[in-house]
Amino acid sequence: MKQKVVSFLVSGRGSNFKAIAEKIIAGEINAELGILISSTKDAKALDIANGFKMESFFIDPASFASRKDHEKAMVNLLKKYNTDLIVTAGYMRVLTPFFVKEYRNKIMNIHPALLPSFPGTNAQKQAFDKGVKMTGCTTHFIDEGTDTGPIIMQAAVPVLENDTIESLSARILKEEHRIFPESVKLFCYDRLTIIGNKVLIKSLQ
Ligand code: GRF
Repeated sequence: MKQKVVSFLVSGRGSNFKAIAEKIIAGEINAELGILISSTKDAKALDIANGFKMESFFIDPASFASRKDHEKAMVNLLKKYNTDLIVTAGYMRVLTPFFVKEYRNKIMNIHPALLPSFPGTNAQKQAFDKGVKMTGCTTHFIDEGTDTGPIIMQAAVPVLENDTIESLSARILKEEHRIFPESVKLFCYDRLTIIGNKVLIKSLQ
């Protein structure tokens, strides 16, 4: 099996990127680190990538005439580095159908809620405000919709009575750092099969 090249799109803190990259560097996921592209200049993720001696780029969406031109620049770079899997880890922009088509079933995202509940932004706050007793996080492939693509893994997290949005988000994030690397690993070991909107998993154990 050919070793997969994993690249990242980010916009901010980069804790999920870090959790995945550390496992690749440690050899716990047999894959190669590709590149990291940030849509913001001061993303903490860029510093983390530097620390890993990884190629990283700030591609300013504002410097392109259209969203498609911005995405074309990203696709060119991702292809130049032979990317097999794109991980969107806190990437705060919606990808257009052009980008999705270029990398169909090869873009993996994490959403901080149990999809299809609470899609879109501020998912933790949406769940908190709704008063649900259980929320969590979901890894999924990206399709043309907003957080609608085939679901890979989910982890449930209880909402406690004394929770704040911050404490709840922190508890969810801990699970994100567990299921996101696991989902990437399954992809890299060819354990995921997509049939319609379902993802079948051949366990690694
Ligand atoms: C995470 O909560 C993730 O679920 C959401 O954006 C946040 C990114 O955090 N999509 P980080 O940049 O990975 O620390």
